Amino acid sequence: MPKIETLLAQAGRCQDARTGAISTPIYQSATFEHPALGQSTGFDYSRSANPTRSVVEQTIAALDHGCAGFAFASGLAALNTVFSLFSSGDHLVVAEGCYGGSSRLLDQVFSRFGLSVSYVAVTDTAAYQAAIRPNTRAILVESLSNPCLHVPDLPALAALARQHNLLFIVDNTFLTPFWLKPLDLGADLVVHSASKYLGGHNDVLAGLVSVRDPALAEKVAYLQNAIGAVLGPQDAWLLLRGMKTLALRLERQQQSAQRLADWLTRQPQVRKVLYPGLSQHPGHDRLQQQASGFGAMISFELANQEAVARLIERLNYIAYAESLGGVESLITVPAIQTHANLPVVERARLGVGDALVRLSVGIEAAEDLQTDLAQALA
Ligand SMILES: Cc1ncc(COP(=O)(O)O)c(C=O)c1O
Repeated sequence: MPKIETLLAQAGRCQDARTGAISTPIYQSATFEHPALGQSTGFDYSRSANPTRSVVEQTIAALDHGCAGFAFASGLAALNTVFSLFSSGDHLVVAEGCYGGSSRLLDQVFSRFGLSVSYVAVTDTAAYQAAIRPNTRAILVESLSNPCLHVPDLPALAALARQHNLLFIVDNTFLTPFWLKPLDLGADLVVHSASKYLGGHNDVLAGLVSVRDPALAEKVAYLQNAIGAVLGPQDAWLLLRGMKTLALRLERQQQSAQRLADWLTRQPQVRKVLYPGLSQHPGHDRLQQQASGFGAMISFELANQEAVARLIERLNYIAYAESLGGVESLITVPAIQTHANLPVVERARLGVGDALVRLSVGIEAAEDLQTDLAQALA
């Protein structure tokens, strides 16, 4: 089995006998001609399957060690399809403080169709157990929580899910298969917002799903076609191109994140630094056990919201923008962006205060990012 760097670089390497093309073509076709009555090339209509999208799907399945992969128009389109596995009356146990869009989808949309949710502290395995009811069908966690970067105990939760016959779903957006393979730790289904690290260039929205078991893959395939929130061929190609450099980008981004996190801990204007690569981070040891990297997301707290406004205004290279994981560094204020739909009291309880900022470290020179932060903090 080749190493992940090789799988990534060769992702979608085309073997077109006619032209010798190296790059997978963009099959910009909605429909496909049938060879004869009742026959198919394997491609009938692009909502069901498209050759460019299929290459992305095979790639994510290989990277995640899954039996099948699925590509969607966004991370939320992927989650929408995954939540559609459940029925009215079903109950999910979900790690609290998950991406605001995920909780919004559950609390404001799927709740109307009879799905209920209990939120529990990310790292409190006993709380997940206590929240399980007779109608519970799944546990959903993010492999590294947003924005406080808590680390759930994935093997323990996988064992709990198995014991209660629940699906164990891991949103691995913050770590990607390069650093963590949840299916190897017992997850049944992995979701990625590929708009982040996998795409990696802040230029494409995409969502990916990998599954371990063929019976589950069949259900997801059915829903993918039935719901139709699929990834288009142009975006599939862009995503594939981004994924080829994932290993290089992540190595650089992690190295810079470690350096910046260390440096931020020494800055008097910074009250608190959350980065799992810091030995004092509560999830440091656990992440070291279950993943091969600490990621490249740092959250840090300033004195107050005015200080945050000043920082954002003065930054030159680091853009104040939603999203994460791309080559360009971005800074976000979770309280008014990713977690804006949570009530103030709830945000405060989760540690998502007004003075917390989240930095997605890009591939720029770390010293330039440090200089930018230094002048903006000064
Ligand atoms: C952890 C996580 N999951 C899912 C999503 C949703 O993905 P998308 O924006 O591609 O719909 C996001 C988006 O920020 C996210 O951070």
